Amino acid sequence: MNIEKMTINDIDEVFSLEKELFSDPWPKHFFFEELENEFANYYVYKNEEEIIGYAGMWQMFENCDLTNIAIKKEYQGKGYGEKLLKFMIKEAIKNNCEFMHLEVRVSNIKAKNLYVKFGFEETRIRKHYYENGEDCIDMVKGLLGLNEEDFSD
Ligand SMILES: CC(C)(COP(=O)(O)OP(=O)(O)OC[C@H]1O[C@@H](n2cnc3c(N)ncnc32)[C@H](O)[C@@H]1OP(=O)(O)O)[C@@H](O)C(=O)NCCC(=O)NCCS
Repeated sequence: MNIEKMTINDIDEVFSLEKELFSDPWPKHFFFEELENEFANYYVYKNEEEIIGYAGMWQMFENCDLTNIAIKKEYQGKGYGEKLLKFMIKEAIKNNCEFMHLEVRVSNIKAKNLYVKFGFEETRIRKHYYENGEDCIDMVKGLLGLNEEDFSD
């Protein structure tokens, strides 16, 4: 299993996971645009046969936003999401990020638990943020003073 930079050759596979895993999937062109975005970093989690997950973040000065993180259904619940999140936090620390922000649906208990496990805290609730009227939770984790080694396997 390897975590590597996403390339345009990965987008078809990533997009089919995106459609499978999210009720409001990003359109495919977003991924192409994100790979051109100098403030964005996207990664894929691969085994020999396939992409089993992906994640991305934007960085603006000391703040970064985890834009997405996802693990293919049949690989969920086996610790891969945790490994991928650790990798993203490690990258953010390496890039001198001081805060990692993210948004999560109130109903997304798995993701929320994962974030809480890694010390993310709720900052606010955005009411009716999503198209289906669902609320969004903004979360943040402070990275100042943390070391990359703390997030190694
Ligand atoms: C959220 C997601 C990335 C977690 O990945 P995963 O590989 O299934 O998670 P892991 O096996 O690494 O579990 C890590 C932690 O997540 C939480 N978690 C995972 N599965 C859970 C479940 N079924 N119920 C509750 N919490 C769960 C737990 O805190 C778990 O830690 P623990 O095992 O010590 O309890 C994955 O479920 C996913 O891709 N979901 C669909 C896409 C998505 O919603 N992404 C997040 C957008 S904000």
